[in-house]
Amino acid sequence: SLRPSIYYRPINPTDLDRLEQIHRDIFPIKYESEFFQSAVNGIGIVSWAAVDRSRPDGHSDALIGFVTAKFVLAKDSEIDDLIRYDSLKEEETLIYILTLGVVETYRNHGIAMSLISEVIKYASGLSMCRGVYLHVIAHNNPAICLYKRLMFRCVRRLNGFYLIKRQHFDAFLFVYFLNGS
Ligand code: ACO
Repeated sequence: SLRPSIYYRPINPTDLDRLEQIHRDIFPIKYESEFFQSAVNGIGIVSWAAVDRSRPDGHSDALIGFVTAKFVLAKDSEIDDLIRYDSLKEEETLIYILTLGVVETYRNHGIAMSLISEVIKYASGLSMCRGVYLHVIAHNNPAICLYKRLMFRCVRRLNGFYLIKRQHFDAFLFVYFLNGS
């Protein structure tokens, strides 16, 4: 088989159906259509897509992975106590990763690693950005290993954070500190 040649680009409106489909396939949580609209139109959401340029049949620009994130003011975030920031600088921010996914047949090729690296690279270039953080369900070993490998720090375990089919699950809170935090 052909060796995949993976390329990273922003998510755009042509990705809408595919983005929704992959979220439905791989997450146990239902996301509202408003979330997908905001993601593909870049309204309050920054995102990256992974595509396989070597894919035939006109699928060379179709999503095979994605990461979506949003800005949160450091002072309003749940980790304000962990961030060394200047309380007078109202505009200091954090980036919160909303969703990350890679379609099953493309896993274990380092694509998630590259997607998260894109987020960190982007955040590092913003002088007002103090870090990148996210929640992950406590039993998601692949994702937890990924964040640890990328030097995220696990700072909290949140009891019953997720409610899925009327059952509560704990979450870990991971942070990648930036710019002196
Ligand atoms: N078991 C253990 N560690 C794993 C696994 C696994 N199955 N998969 C990835 N990792 C870890 C490893 O440390 C790996 O590095 P290594 O292979 O050099 O040891 C590292 O992650 C990077 O692996 P990638 O190949 O970059 O990861 P991949 O592209 O396969 O995507 C992902 C990983 C996103 C977790 C994928 O399995 C997936 O889409 N899962 C379903 C959706 C999901 O769980 N998303 C994350 C939820 S958290 C959130 O969205 C904020």
